Amino acid sequence: MITLGIESSCDETGLALYCTDQGLLAHALFSQVDLHALYGGVVPELASRDHVRRLVPLTKQVCAQANVSLQAIDAVAFTAGPGLAGALLTGAMMARGLAWALQRPALGVHHLEGHLLAPMLEEQVPQFPFLCLLVSGGHTQLVAVAGLGEYQLLGESIDDAAGEAFDKTAKMLGLGYPGGPALSELATRGDATAVDLPRPMLDRDTLDFSFSGLKTAAITRYKQFSGSEADKERFMADLAASFEQAVIDVLIGKSRKALAQTGLSTLVISGGVSANRQLRQAADSRLGDDIAVFYPRLEFCTDNGAMIALAGAQRLLRGGKSEDLAVGIRPRWPLETLN
Ligand code: KG4
Ligand code: ZN
Repeated sequence: MITLGIESSCDETGLALYCTDQGLLAHALFSQVDLHALYGGVVPELASRDHVRRLVPLTKQVCAQANVSLQAIDAVAFTAGPGLAGALLTGAMMARGLAWALQRPALGVHHLEGHLLAPMLEEQVPQFPFLCLLVSGGHTQLVAVAGLGEYQLLGESIDDAAGEAFDKTAKMLGLGYPGGPALSELATRGDATAVDLPRPMLDRDTLDFSFSGLKTAAITRYKQFSGSEADKERFMADLAASFEQAVIDVLIGKSRKALAQTGLSTLVISGGVSANRQLRQAADSRLGDDIAVFYPRLEFCTDNGAMIALAGAQRLLRGGKSEDLAVGIRPRWPLETLN
């Protein structure tokens, strides 16, 4: 069974073809980063308009890559939420229209379910049940995953998501947009012990997170710097490394706590921030040999169509029903409501 996956929830247009027998057949992505960089963040209307431009050519591209005709597609899966309303609508309209024309089921997929299943696109797949640390630009969550569609939210960020804190801190440091990868790159040249920053809520019993205070602390230290231009370069790298380390300490500390509380021994780390190399290294080295850690490959950490095609196919295999002919999107959509 071949599923076409369409992702358009934010600033990436992702298309993919996933086959339940052969795995991923093709995927293509257009990132709007250059379009939004000018404004220092995502401009929703521009995002929607660009998705409209990309959706059809990218669909043709994946079909050509996989040598699959439109008629050979058995189902169309699309990101129905959460995300930017206008951006979601473009993918939903395209999916609903194509599915109707082909007389195939259309499946509205939860974006975060896509992220948390993304490691299943790899050769070594995690087995249920597992704990998922979902770290993206919009969400930071710890989710106990009993099976497909069986999600228990254990904790989440009460303010900025981890990726959002990376982006906002990077922006203040003049690193542009999106700042996460740039800040992480700068951090490789710094000393992570040089700037003393807080580890918010790490010692509290709750599994919730808070990154807003850490972001403000880092920005305050940046504004207080009064050394020479030559020293500033060094300081910026130290600050980036110290900030990154503080985020990682909290993410690993809370994950460890959640693993102990649930008795789970498999951890999936997914979402844009799971592309962070230091985070991956810390999870591999600090959680102990009895915890198996899984990640998506780097290109599937951030938004992509492959994870949506996979999640749609999994739902269909388990008796998931097609959407009716109305085009349904949910800009806000709690993950647990899928249960
Ligand atoms: O999952 P994603 O593509 O979009 C959302 O669903 O939000 O995640 C994007 C986020 C951005 O905040 C970006 O800065 C962050 O992931 N990110 C990183 C890295 N790569 C992407 N943050 C830290 N280090 C990275 N290497
Ligand atoms: Zn995402």
